[in-house]
Amino acid sequence: MIRAVFFLFFVLACFISPLNAQDPPVGLTPAQRGEWLILNKPFITADFDQETFDNLWKTWPEPLKSRAKNATSEQRRQMAFSRYGLTERPHGSIGKPLQYVVTDRGEWVMNCHSCHSGKVAGKVIPGVPNSLFAMQTLLEETRAIKPQLGKQLSSKEIASFFFPLGSTVGTTNAVIFGVALGTFRDSEMNLVTNVKVPMLLHHDMDAPAWWHYKKKKQIYIDGFAEKNHRVLMSFALVRSNSSERYRSFEDDFRDISAYIESLDAPVYPYAIDRKLASRGKDVFDNHCLRCHGSYGEKESYPERTIPIDEIGTDPVRLRALPVVYREGLKKSWVGEYGKLNTITDPKGYVAPPLDGVWATAPYFHNGSVPTLWHVLHPEQRPAVWRRTEDGYDRERVGLEIESFDRVPRDVVTPADKRKYFDTRKFGKKNSGHTYPNELDEQEKRAVLEYLKTI
Ligand code: HEC
Ligand code: HEC
Repeated sequence: MIRAVFFLFFVLACFISPLNAQDPPVGLTPAQRGEWLILNKPFITADFDQETFDNLWKTWPEPLKSRAKNATSEQRRQMAFSRYGLTERPHGSIGKPLQYVVTDRGEWVMNCHSCHSGKVAGKVIPGVPNSLFAMQTLLEETRAIKPQLGKQLSSKEIASFFFPLGSTVGTTNAVIFGVALGTFRDSEMNLVTNVKVPMLLHHDMDAPAWWHYKKKKQIYIDGFAEKNHRVLMSFALVRSNSSERYRSFEDDFRDISAYIESLDAPVYPYAIDRKLASRGKDVFDNHCLRCHGSYGEKESYPERTIPIDEIGTDPVRLRALPVVYREGLKKSWVGEYGKLNTITDPKGYVAPPLDGVWATAPYFHNGSVPTLWHVLHPEQRPAVWRRTEDGYDRERVGLEIESFDRVPRDVVTPADKRKYFDTRKFGKKNSGHTYPNELDEQEKRAVLEYLKTI
């Protein structure tokens, strides 16, 4: 059944022609070109157009719909940005979201920022995981309005009937998109059809912060892929890109990789108790440095993989990448035919760098823990939580949340349910990483203050 649906998806996608390429202005550095390309070049097909976006409010539940009806078009745009986790661009292009390329023809094409850039405490920060992105809700609602506008569904909208895009706001099934798309390519990246689709273990991830990229040799939470621009290209593996076209993006992705490499962690914008933080540095160096490295004058990053049974955080992501997929990638053009260090049986998760950790809530690879205080108090992590859009918890350092024992019964629409992070769901466990239990309460307080400074 699943194979048949994939085949249908493939056939439909073949009829959608790729969009025209565009080139960055001359005289930019590679990193600037990369930044420009993400914002302006459509690497994949459009999901919908401007008219569709402008009409989305008609699908909203009351009282939101009436409020949108009586609002100005500018207020309506802002309401839509808020509903779907879209933000303004940090400079220029008023009205265009950071997270989508909007072509001259008014087509909206998803870009890397949709998962990789969003806002923290109301301020847009390039490279901070977009913890408000509501991909599933956005595409369900474009899918609902399009027939009324006489428009055809895009391949992603069709896929979203049977392929989960993200079951909680701020996290996506991105890893499994990669597995599903990669399965239909041979080692030269040609499209193939008669393949056996591996078991797809759908689960959601919180994207990692981009400013850690420059510290790493291997990327992804299990460190399985050597850092390389080709590995980043899996985003462009959609069926509408032939092997030739896909590979023609290589130079663009060298520039995109240079852009990501150029990003720095944002600085904590609120007051810091420097004396407490310096006590916290000693605690950190004694208990955390061996895995997370050191910060400040003497920087180091050990890039250590911790076996899954020891770390104890949710294991689904590790299991979700089948060995055949990892081997296929290793032997292909992407893995430079085995030349890149592709690890086909990683044993656990890599301890990430913690630069800018104040900004990257929620925590752990699945985004299950809302604040640093909760990372430091493993027994007190909330089972179910819901965040505010722009609030920032300066006490506990991270998202401003409400906690629950279970998702309230009066929350019925799928869009509203996705605003609750339910740690009892598959792939969403908030367990593990119990190292902070070695610390007493004062030491935890001090480490929390120190974490604001790195
Ligand atoms: C649908 C969401 C989504 C989109 C769109 C997306 N990514 Fe990602 N990206 C992720 C997730 C989730 C991970 C973590 C995967 C893992 O660790 O297994 C990731 C990981 C990465 C990493 C590795 C970072 C690290 O430190 O290990 C880089 C670099 C990256 N993405 C770049 C890109 C680029 C470039 C694009 C656009 C061409 C892009 N991503 C589009 C979700 C996305
Ligand atoms: C034995 C190695 C190890 C030690 C010791 C350790 N950690 Fe970690 N830490 C990890 C790993 C691995 C992860 C990633 C877990 C995941 O995402 O599933 C992690 C994740 C984190 C995160 C979440 C980062 C994010 O962006 O999601 C924070 C914060 C953190 N650790 C803080 C600390 C602090 C503070 C200490 C010291 C009290 C510490 N860790 C000790 C291995 C370690």
